[in-house]
Amino acid sequence: MSVILEVKGLTKSFGGLRAVNNVSFQVNEGEIVGLIGPNGAGKTTTFNLLVGLHKCDRGEILLRGEPIQNLPPHKVAQRGITKTFQISTLFDDMSVLDNVVVGALLRHNNVPDAVVEARLALEAVGLDPDTRLTASELNVVDRARLEIARALATRPSVLLLDEVMAGQTPAETEETIAMIRRLRDRGITLIVVEHNMRAIMQLSDRIIAFHYGEKIADGPPREVSAHPKVIESYLGRGYAVAAH
Ligand SMILES: Nc1ncnc2c1ncn2[C@@H]1O[C@H](COP(=O)(O)OP(=O)(O)O)[C@@H](O)[C@H]1O
Ligand SMILES: [Mg+2]
Repeated sequence: MSVILEVKGLTKSFGGLRAVNNVSFQVNEGEIVGLIGPNGAGKTTTFNLLVGLHKCDRGEILLRGEPIQNLPPHKVAQRGITKTFQISTLFDDMSVLDNVVVGALLRHNNVPDAVVEARLALEAVGLDPDTRLTASELNVVDRARLEIARALATRPSVLLLDEVMAGQTPAETEETIAMIRRLRDRGITLIVVEHNMRAIMQLSDRIIAFHYGEKIADGPPREVSAHPKVIESYLGRGYAVAAH
């Protein structure tokens, strides 16, 4: 197993608040890593640092050994890291296909090629490329799929998914899990932020837990879900009793 992404001592403050505090971890090629922790733990900020939307105060981000910290977002995307947004940034009045073409233009300098790429990305997430619906007319599940398709169209090696299962029924969650696994089978490495513990346990090869901007656990799902600090800060004692 080779390391594709390495984060060392990553630190980011907003004013006096340390949103991400001296965080280090590695991700192996082809791995699905779950990132968990209470609201405000620093998960989204970590994603934003990884894709260059925030500049880090300290620390290093290495993609296949090459430092990428503080490159602008489009350069990071060209190197192969892309994320979806917890709060949707789709173009509401544009068609489903055009939303994804926007992503595909990162790798293509002409629209016809970008359209081909966008169609493939939509098929990969199970959306009809020929639908006449605009993004605003999609339901919550299809909007999440569209977000993923747009990210996929940039051809990421590492894809960061931020709460894409929020608002999904159990059946929809199962479908999303299957879809994420298919992405991995195509060679994409994934870091997935999700509050649905059943889903994240089922999906992840490994789980990293954050609390107040710090990494408090990192290991196999069963170990992390039984970790005293994770139970204390996030899962609650009821979870420990129910799960074991
Ligand atoms: N752009 C920002 N400006 C100021 N504070 C922020 C900003 N983004 C996040 N924060 C703060 O940083 C902390 C971590 O937030 P976030 O990374 O969104 O947590 P999570 O995704 O784990 O819920 C929170 O206290 C949040 O209020
Ligand atoms: Mg978040």
